[in-house]
Amino acid sequence: MNILIAYATVEGQTRKIAAQLAEIFENRGWQVALQNTAGMMEFILNRPDAAILLAPVHAGRYPTPFTHFVRQEADWLNSVPSAFVSVSLSIVSDNADERQEAEDYPTGLLAETGWQPLAIHHAGGALRLAEYDFFKRWMVRRLSRNAPAGEQKGDREFTDWAALELFASEFANEVGRRKA
Ligand SMILES: Cc1cc2nc3c(=O)[nH]c(=O)nc-3n(C[C@H](O)[C@H](O)[C@H](O)COP(=O)(O)O)c2cc1C
Repeated sequence: MNILIAYATVEGQTRKIAAQLAEIFENRGWQVALQNTAGMMEFILNRPDAAILLAPVHAGRYPTPFTHFVRQEADWLNSVPSAFVSVSLSIVSDNADERQEAEDYPTGLLAETGWQPLAIHHAGGALRLAEYDFFKRWMVRRLSRNAPAGEQKGDREFTDWAALELFASEFANEVGRRKA
């Protein structure tokens, strides 16, 4: 079985999550093409059995080139089992409204592009305060004011790796069932 794992990233956390997914599928004996959507053309020659796309939320939306990519590739994405991993900080907020906002981010993307993934997984992102400029620090501090208690300062990764593994294994099993 071969799978395309394609991601967009701004600060690197989504790339890290995509690489972890790639390892999980490789450990299951799958052939994995791990690609940044920013530099992708080649994979289309070799259509995979399944696809997982990943993108981070920045300022309330996914990166525009990622949305363009999904719109352009929606037809073939809809022809194979596919899934989306949305990476955000709001999804780990203590505030229910903010978590709901994060749950809703994919709705706009799917409506805009026509992509219909089988599954959507929400992953917590990361704070890298030391690497941000003043504006990003300010923005991200506001975003993380409702992060779990005591985590508002310093760098922190909010990705739940066990939940990611569970999602990957459920998706792999579903693809297997559909191919059987
Ligand atoms: C400038 C900036 C804006 C962000 N805006 C949002 C946002 O609107 N909603 C949200 O849930 N997370 C937001 N985040 C958090 C990112 O989704 C999180 O840091 C994620 O790990 C970034 O993924 P990346 O490292 O792959 O770019 C923002 C982060 C930065 C640096």
